[in-house]
Amino acid sequence: MTSPVRIAVALSSMKSAEWVEPLREACARAGVTARFELWDGRRIDARYAVVWLPPAELFTVETGLRAVFNAGAGVERLLAMAGLPPGLPVMRLVDAGMAPKMAEYVCFYIARITRGLDRFGGAPALPDWNADRPRGRPPTVGVLGLGAIGAQIAQAANLFGYPVRGWSRTPKQLDGVESFAGAAGLADFLAGTQILVDALPLTEETRDLLDRARLSQLPAGSHLINVGRAGTIVDDDLLALLDEGHLASAVLDVFRVEPLPPEHRFWHHPKVTVTPHLSGPTPREPAAQQIAEAIARLERGAAPSSLPGFVERARGY
Ligand code: GLV
Repeated sequence: MTSPVRIAVALSSMKSAEWVEPLREACARAGVTARFELWDGRRIDARYAVVWLPPAELFTVETGLRAVFNAGAGVERLLAMAGLPPGLPVMRLVDAGMAPKMAEYVCFYIARITRGLDRFGGAPALPDWNADRPRGRPPTVGVLGLGAIGAQIAQAANLFGYPVRGWSRTPKQLDGVESFAGAAGLADFLAGTQILVDALPLTEETRDLLDRARLSQLPAGSHLINVGRAGTIVDDDLLALLDEGHLASAVLDVFRVEPLPPEHRFWHHPKVTVTPHLSGPTPREPAAQQIAEAIARLERGAAPSSLPGFVERARGY
């Protein structure tokens, strides 16, 4: 009998212990006999690691790793770890059940913005049958980033009747989504967007992308929803444009520092809704399935770069 493949699990706030069984079962279904160990700093001779913000020593102690799996979509913090070996393949999750939840979150807030639904929470002081019942052309939703997540957000908004445009590094063809691409397409994209949804990864190209100049290209009265990465937006510029009235509101799920410090202005700003990075929780079973299938293919000799979720380090995602 072949000895089990050893896999280190280091998932920080994601509760590593709860992942072991789904990962083991998914590996068994994929035909891989694996032994998962909660990584405690001692060398286990791991061939793979499943991580979320792992301790830096993982990479100096486990020198036999053939690939590291990020149990989320965003890899910017993993890639920034000083000890990450330059040649170690990094894999990220592609959708894995996160995208529909993020699309649901975004569409919930779009409905709240466009239909005045805030008024109807709790018992009213007096019965009140008045409501906004918008019957005109709905506002245009613009989605920044059309990867697995952005594409589902764009298509969900379109399903709910919104005109939708998307902006990505390279042009994308998606039903019902007008495509804009590259630096040259950004100004036009922003000028025709009334609800901007940020679903970008944080890379050298997207860092601080939405500064005062770019956010000012949105029409007056626009709204922003950020489910991507906070580093793509300059906080002070966003706050200034909200204060000046150019932007009507912001819904923010991601922050430069998390948890968002209690004194941060976002918590107290009347035009800002803060949610604690919950729009796209990683669902264990589909994520474990995706990781197990990739491990099975690697074990059969596939090149990491041929698998979905292989991170091109130079590109940053
Ligand atoms: C969450 O932020 C993720 O990157 O999956």
